[in-house]
This record gives sequence, C-alpha cells and structure tokens, in this order.
Amino acid sequence: MIKKTIGAWFEKRFDVKAIQEPLEYQLRKPLPGHISWFHTLGSMSLFLFASQIVTGILLLIYYRPTADEAFESVKFIMTKPYMGWLFRQIHAWGANLMILIVFLHMLRTFITGSFKKPRELTWMIGVGLFILTLIFGFTGYLLPWNQLAYWATTVGTEIAGAVPLIGEPMKLFMRGGPVVGGETLSRFFVIHVIILPWLVFFLVAVHLFLVRFQGMSTMDPVDKEKPVKKGEGIPFFPHHIVKEGVVFFFVLGVLITLSIMLPFELGEKADPLKTPDGIKPEWYFMSMYQVIKYFPKLVGIFVVGLAPMLLLIWPFMDKSSQRVPSKRPVSMLVGVLTILSLLIFGILGTLSETKQTFFGKTYDFDIYGVPHLINNSPVKANIEHH
Ligand code: HEM
Repeated sequence: MIKKTIGAWFEKRFDVKAIQEPLEYQLRKPLPGHISWFHTLGSMSLFLFASQIVTGILLLIYYRPTADEAFESVKFIMTKPYMGWLFRQIHAWGANLMILIVFLHMLRTFITGSFKKPRELTWMIGVGLFILTLIFGFTGYLLPWNQLAYWATTVGTEIAGAVPLIGEPMKLFMRGGPVVGGETLSRFFVIHVIILPWLVFFLVAVHLFLVRFQGMSTMDPVDKEKPVKKGEGIPFFPHHIVKEGVVFFFVLGVLITLSIMLPFELGEKADPLKTPDGIKPEWYFMSMYQVIKYFPKLVGIFVVGLAPMLLLIWPFMDKSSQRVPSKRPVSMLVGVLTILSLLIFGILGTLSETKQTFFGKTYDFDIYGVPHLINNSPVKANIEHH
C-alpha cells in the first residue's frame, strides 16, 4: 500500500519506467556459469573501501593534522571516545586487508584472462586503483606521527628523490621542505582524506560501469565470447548478491577479530632528532625496498618503476586469444615468477638488518638478507674457554 502510494507519487513527477527498466535488466542479467567465490574479491575490495570511508570519517572527528597534535589526538582516539579504539583498529587493519584483497582480485582477473579484449580498459583502470590503494597506505601511515611512520616516510621520500631530473623537485613537493615535518603531514593529510578518496570513488564508478555494461568475462577465447542466455549461467540476483552478502559479513568478522586480537600499537611520538635502528617500510613495500638494495641506486629505481608500467600495458603484451590458464603456460609462468619474487624479496627485506635464532643458532642478517652465524653456541664457547 505504502509502496504503491510512494510509487505513484514519483510516477506523477518522473519517467520512472525509463530508469526502472534498464536497472531491472542489469539486476536480472545472468552471469557466466564459471562464476565462483573468487569472483567476490572485487566486491570485497569495494566493501573494504566503504569501510575505510566510514571509519575514516569517524576518526576525522578527533584527529588533528599538525606535528604538535597528531600523535596526541590518535592517543586520545584510542583511549577516550566511545569505541574510538575499535574504529582506529578497523581502519588500520582495513588498509592492510584492502591492499591484499585488491591484489588478489587483480590476480584472479589475471588467471582467468579477464583483462583481454574487450576488457583492457577495465584492467588499466584497475591498475590505477591498485596504485592509488598503495598511495593510500603510504600517506595514511604517516598520520599518527609516530617514530616508525616518521622515519619510514623519510626513507620513502628519499628513494623518490633519487629519480633523475624529477626526483628532487618531487621529494621537495612531497615533503613541503628539506625534511619531513609538519608541512609533510598536512600534505599527506590532504592527499589521504580528500584527493585519494574522490579519485578512487570516481575510478571505481567507471570500473564498475564497464564491468556491468560489458558483462563479466566468460572463459571463451577472445572474439568468440557468447553472451549468456536467459535461464543459463548464474542469476546475478539473488544468487551472486547473496554470495556477496556472505562475504560482507565474513570480512566484517575478520576485521573485528583482528582489531581485538592483534591491535596496532601507537609506539613513540615522532622525534626528528632520534633515528631508530632498522627502519623498515610496511610489508606491501618490502619487496620493492629490498630489490632497490641489490642494484646501483638508479638501476634499482628503474627496475621497480618498470613493474607498474608493465602491469598497465599487460593486456597489449599478452597477445594469445586464450583465457583458460592451462592454454597460457607462458603467462602463468610469468605470474608464478612474479609472485615468487615478491615473496622472496619480501622475506629477505623483513629478515635484513635483524638477528634471528633458528634451531638454537643465532644469525645476523645483513642489509641484503644474507645470514651470518654469530658464534654463540654454548658447546663451542665452552671449548674455546678451555
Ligand atoms: C579499489 C579497487 C577495486 C574495486 C573496488 C574493484 C571492483 C570490481 C568488481 C566489483 C568487479 C566485478 C566482480 C569481480 O570480478 O570480482 C570487478 C571486475 C574486474 N576488475 Fe576490479 N576492482 C578493483 C581493482 C582492480 C584491479 C587492481 C584490477 C587489475 C589490475 C581489476 C581488474 C578487473 C577486471 C579485469 C574485472 C573484470 C572481471 C571479469 O569480467 O571477469 N580491478 N572489479
């Protein structure tokens, strides 16, 4: 009854049918039969982005973006306002999870060959989104203004500064001065809370528009894709939407559990005069940071800078018309080698400049991640003593 009255009210004022029909068509359009849980990684990324916006807005109520107040305001959020600690933890964990899930979504579309014609643009906008998600992480990391963040940003901007010609002006522009300071904080703040959210929002809108109007990719070869007929495939509504609902509650559960069980520490307030030992970037920059160490500075930056370029133009380099992974052995090998090198350099980067004990023996890992045994075994020490 109420629905009818409201419907009639709108119908008298707008051409409701003109909007309703295409919307219903989109809702009922069947998805290809191979659609699985892996096809919810995109909506998982979207959910995490929405969660970052909501928790980010809540954090903004008490956060102060100045060198004097930033650290204290985050400390305040974590101790005083109702559930402030939870919103900060969900935001911090959400950032890490979003980077991981966006990466896995990219991997899924790579494995199923969905980036091939006619979806090259969807992929390229996706690469843009992945890079923006990483910049979200880099700029947000500085905002609590603690020691780790301050020095990681100093090192990060220093690396950018080594790029020929544009490096130095870029570093100055990012820092807002010769060293990381209050100016850097306000720049990163504006990028993090205004520029990036709107850019990502806009790009996600175009990305989703393309996905919807081109339809999800089938596993048929390029130019041989058959449209999914009515009654075949999987209905978008309710089947796929229910799956997305399940995933939504799962991700929410993971976020809350991690926030309670493994909360992020705030650490000490940034001190520009006290350099801590073993400054490391966040895990998502670790492999990049490690690779740079093995090459002369410029070559390293070139190697690391090449990766996003290759990723961007990948649909135009991978010319085979097949989408099924078993028919694309070279692409799969490139994918496996990329993942392996990310993992290996990531592990080497994490171990570098640390002492670790394995099976009772202590090793000192140098900056390249090479272990050096420290002579501390009790038997040996005893023999030496005699
Ligand atoms: C904020 C980041 C992103 C969001 C919110 C997002 C969202 C989505 C959603 C909801 C879908 C449809 C469902 C699915 O396939 O899971 C999709 C499809 C797609 N996405 Fe993304 N995406 C993001 C980043 C990326 C990235 C980084 C790439 C690759 C570089 C990418 C490439 C694609 C492609 C090629 C499709 C079409 C898949 C097909 O037709 O089978 N997306 N995206």
